[in-house]
Amino acid sequence: MDQKPFLVMKNISKSFPGVQALKGVDFDLRKSEVHCILGENGAGKSTLIKILSGALREDSGTITIDGEPVVLDSPGKAHELGFATIYQEFNLCPNLSVAANIFLGSEKSFKKRGMIDKAKMREQSKEYLSKLGVNISPAAKISSLTVAQQQVVEISKALSSGAKIIIMDEPTAALSGDEVDKLFDVIRYLKENGVSIVYISHRLDEIFEIGDRITILRDGTKVRTLESTNEVSRNELVALMVGRKLEDWIPKVKTEKGKEILKVSSLSRKGVFENISFSLYQGEVLGFSGLVGSGRTEVMRAIFGADPYDEGMIWFDGEKIKKNAPSKLIASGMYLLPENRKDQGLILQMSVCQNITLPKLERISSVLKISGKKEREAVNRYKEELSIKTPSIRRLVKFLSGGNQQKCVLAKSLFSESKLLIFDEPTRGIDVGAKSEIYDLINRLVADGIGVIVVSSELPEILGLCDRIIIMREGIIAGEVEREQATQEFVMQLALGEGGLN
Ligand SMILES: Nc1ncnc2c1ncn2[C@@H]1O[C@H](COP(=O)(O)OP(=O)(O)OP(=O)(O)O)[C@@H](O)[C@H]1O
Ligand SMILES: [Mg+2]
Repeated sequence: MDQKPFLVMKNISKSFPGVQALKGVDFDLRKSEVHCILGENGAGKSTLIKILSGALREDSGTITIDGEPVVLDSPGKAHELGFATIYQEFNLCPNLSVAANIFLGSEKSFKKRGMIDKAKMREQSKEYLSKLGVNISPAAKISSLTVAQQQVVEISKALSSGAKIIIMDEPTAALSGDEVDKLFDVIRYLKENGVSIVYISHRLDEIFEIGDRITILRDGTKVRTLESTNEVSRNELVALMVGRKLEDWIPKVKTEKGKEILKVSSLSRKGVFENISFSLYQGEVLGFSGLVGSGRTEVMRAIFGADPYDEGMIWFDGEKIKKNAPSKLIASGMYLLPENRKDQGLILQMSVCQNITLPKLERISSVLKISGKKEREAVNRYKEELSIKTPSIRRLVKFLSGGNQQKCVLAKSLFSESKLLIFDEPTRGIDVGAKSEIYDLINRLVADGIGVIVVSSELPEILGLCDRIIIMREGIIAGEVEREQATQEFVMQLALGEGGLN
């Protein structure tokens, strides 16, 4: 590998009102390497890569490519210099074809006698896609693809524009296990072809598997750059990130099972899920495992009244519930922490405080008026418990880092003081330190007699946290297992179905 970096960022600083996001950070990139950036929520990772992609401008510091200073003052400029960023929310046009998206903006090169040669465009798209080892039709509409497939289209688009540096900010957050493996194959292919990758993830296993070097940020400062992932153990890495030692796993606290809090009977929605029946008891954590797309989220949304269902019955806290609106269910003590926080969980234009207290304003109000003191006390408690990083609880949520926004959604669900909490991917995008705090919190919630459902794609999370696990596959319940009998293999086998783990 070429040991000398071609891209060098030196002494980069960046401030936002009330926060210094980066303080004199150095970062560099070699040809054909995967350079990972690690750090807690709010450490400055996204800010650093936004500077590279031209979305944000540094306050001070220098950036050079092959020794020449460059100014990355717009996304267009960064693009010209060979940078491409794969964001979590893709920049694809859902109604256009795969081929049209890959060559969006460079259609000119396909002009033949004033017309765009669509056949040629499709042919070249096919080439990129097959180089990346995927079988997607260039004529398919983007909206018909899975998240993983859309990601590959984004990467093809980057390649077609001649990108030399591909930046990925939490690319695996919405992928299932085998999709992650495929993405890693693509990354290996990119490396072999001289592309360098900047990779951000909270999942340490991924960093060990795919990373070459690791740079660790803490509170906007660079802690260290490690020359290889062999240099450290997982625990050392965590210690570097959070500046203290962390328990490896919060031990499971066993609580007494109370009365039945939720009963779902033969719930079906045509083409989405079928014949879903289960019960949940007070003091119990029930896990829902399965592949992405197996129907877990849809079932939860139906129970919560956010989506319709065709058949079946639901009893909540002893009472049969009709097809209620979520607001009614929240009032009677059910709360769903949605999977897609940005769209469903938060109002970005409101403050941290307003967002958290929204589901249950009466908790902080007296005689139709919000009590500022009660509000501050309640919100500050959750800010402490979940270590939400914000200069003030009055700050608009849109200015928080991704992980801290998620902690706000979590705080919101806790503030609702519910009898039943449904968490859909509760720790997605949340750093390792905060993760164990969330597990601890869930333990305490059930000890207080609350019933909790956790939908999660992370098997260690499901196995470590839940008393009982239901495994879904293609819209049906494929099986159920008690904590004591649950193993990774067993759960995977059921989630995958016939042919299982081969
Ligand atoms: N546009 C902005 N306006 C104000 N503050 C911002 C803005 N963008 C980021 N910040 C702040 O800068 C700090 C660093 O944020 P950044 O998004 O870089 O963190 P991160 O390391 O990517 O965290 P996460 O793991 O949660 O995604 C945070 O305190 C954040 O609130
Ligand atoms: Mg981020």
